[in-house]
Amino acid sequence: MTIRPASTERLAAYLEAHRPVIDAALDGYLPPPEGPIARLAEAMRYSVFAGGKRLRPMLVLLASDLCGGQQAHAVPPACALELVHTYSLIHDDLPAMDDDDFRRGRPSCHKAFGEAAAVLAGDALLTLAFAIVAQPPVAHLAAPLVTELAHAAGHGGMLGGQIADVEAEGTGPSAETVDFIHHHKTAALIAACLRLGAIAAGADEATLARLGRFGRHVGLAFQIADDALDVEASSKQLGKTAGKDATQGKVTYPAVYGLEETHRRAAALIGQALDELAPFGPSADLLRDVAHYVVSRNT
Ligand code: IPE
Ligand code: IPE
Ligand code: MG
Ligand code: MG
Ligand code: MG
Repeated sequence: MTIRPASTERLAAYLEAHRPVIDAALDGYLPPPEGPIARLAEAMRYSVFAGGKRLRPMLVLLASDLCGGQQAHAVPPACALELVHTYSLIHDDLPAMDDDDFRRGRPSCHKAFGEAAAVLAGDALLTLAFAIVAQPPVAHLAAPLVTELAHAAGHGGMLGGQIADVEAEGTGPSAETVDFIHHHKTAALIAACLRLGAIAAGADEATLARLGRFGRHVGLAFQIADDALDVEASSKQLGKTAGKDATQGKVTYPAVYGLEETHRRAAALIGQALDELAPFGPSADLLRDVAHYVVSRNT
């Protein structure tokens, strides 16, 4: 297995071209910060427009492109995934969960708006995401899109991982536990990005399954890299508090395996992810770039 370095320029150009499209669509979906719900709308907008990497919406668009879909059909699910992700970060930072004061380079939502507004902003972003995927440009795709998102975000996916993550705090390193946590809290939603993009493009079951497997490998590698960055990067680089996992006794890859083996495992997962893309040939090159980026990033 050889992993060649990512073409960062090619991926950067795609991001630069598509980020404004996603941001404009998100702006259109979010309520204006006025009237009786002004504070809720402000809190929602504060977190959505705080400068996240937009990895998840890009994965939706790339999966759709690969399957020959129209961008206009992929933008709504791409926004929905970013909204679910942003909600998960707002709640993840709450004192009852990771108790984190910084996110995306600024005070976390509850620090800026108070806990009540932060809880409700998260709830509102999640709810809005489902309103968006329930009304896709291709009407008969509503049920598959809603179902896919619900499974990835709910108790069998991200939330199952989040409860396992908080319950595992201080219990000591366990390979089995960390794999459950990471597959559920992070890989499930990242795999859903690929699958929703493919669904929006009308892809067949085999393609959906293949892209879903790619997404699970990349998603697990993404969380492993997040764990490593928590140890190796600075708060300034990350835009969130570094070094918190060890302080909080989180069950992470570095805690279980040490840093060297953590990096080795992340790289091996990228190899497995790339294997899934082989049948697509050069048309999957941007997805290959994302896979490389996920483990080489420093933010
Ligand atoms: C952070 O995700 C939460 C994890 C699942 C590790 P990102 O690193 O994608 O956060 P943003 O969207 O760029 O802020
Ligand atoms: C978060 O994992 C995964 C989510 C579903 C939000 P972390 O707790 O490690 O994410 P960060 O490090 O706070 O971004
Ligand atoms: Mg957490
Ligand atoms: Mg956290
Ligand atoms: Mg983390």
